[in-house]
Amino acid sequence: MAIDSLQSALPPDPPDFGPREFPAALVNVTNRCNLKCTHCFIYRDANPNASIDKMDDATMLHQLEVLRDRHGIKSMLFMGGEPMVRRKLVLAAMSLFEDSSIATNGTYGIPSTPGRLVSVSLDGPSEENDAIRGQGVFERVEQAVRGRDREDGTIVMLQMAITKENSPSIERFVDVVADWPVDGVAFTFYVPRKGECSGQAWETNQERDEVVERVIALKEAYPDLVRANVATLRLMKSDQCGAYVGDRCAFKAMLPLYVGDGGVFERTFCCYGNDVDCNRCGAYAVFNAVRHRGRGSTPGPTTPVSD
Ligand SMILES: C[S@@+](CC[C@H](N)C(=O)[O-])C[C@H]1O[C@@H](n2cnc3c(N)ncnc32)[C@H](O)[C@@H]1O
Ligand code: SF4
Ligand code: SF4
Repeated sequence: MAIDSLQSALPPDPPDFGPREFPAALVNVTNRCNLKCTHCFIYRDANPNASIDKMDDATMLHQLEVLRDRHGIKSMLFMGGEPMVRRKLVLAAMSLFEDSSIATNGTYGIPSTPGRLVSVSLDGPSEENDAIRGQGVFERVEQAVRGRDREDGTIVMLQMAITKENSPSIERFVDVVADWPVDGVAFTFYVPRKGECSGQAWETNQERDEVVERVIALKEAYPDLVRANVATLRLMKSDQCGAYVGDRCAFKAMLPLYVGDGGVFERTFCCYGNDVDCNRCGAYAVFNAVRHRGRGSTPGPTTPVSD
């Protein structure tokens, strides 16, 4: 076969994202999802979110490998949509990186990834969770978490995205999951759209402060179970948070990869979409990365569920 035709048989290389090193990256392996959570940014208009897979497995594996080598990516977070709708691809791609983790809705079971982090989303106790994630989802996820092999070495954490709506339930949530076989419970806060005025978004960060204080109290009450850092939570209070968002967002040191309409990787403005309101950003990981940066370590997308 001529060299030209051999080359055209190889998957295409990814676009040029410049010469910069990105020790941490995240990839939305698909926009498909079996749930339609009310708070989810995936369904926002400004995202490249037509619900189909626009890049096949071989191309994605090749492109992730090339990007790893170009940008020195050490840690990769596999997200979606629901990444477990492409389980085989995700498990294969995880082996490309020194450190990788998965954020999943847990409805396809908990993947076994020894030594790696699987973050399972639940947004409150049964009733509050199901109002956001859909009827029966809490029970399915509980069964999956309780049914997994705890000895397989996978690090499993629960993650609740706190909105104004589900915020009254955070203490009950921790009570309910306290005896589950997990390595911790993490919290992050809602990231609204610009101008959003909804039941889920706090109008001001001052209003959100009392919930941040309640997460601090939970950390103090359940120091081993609640995976949050009090110093990070204090950075999220209204008197401080403005200094760490927008142009100064620590996530700018990270590469968020989406598959755009043309079937090629695109870098979005933010991993929460293109039309976010940075001034009301509730991403715990952004603030946690500031604290880690202060200590000379790398901000990473896996920090949402670590303290
Ligand atoms: C987009 S989901 C993708 C992975 C998987 N489908 C899941 O639900 O975990 C990743 C995380 O983002 C959170 N999330 C979605 N929309 C959000 C928003 N507007 N603000 C804050 N967190 C959000 C979800 O609750 C979930 O924990
Ligand atoms: S399961 Fe995840 S991706 Fe799917 S709608 Fe819910 S938050 Fe969004
Ligand atoms: S909304 Fe996105 S870009 Fe803005 S501060 Fe938060 S994570 Fe960073």
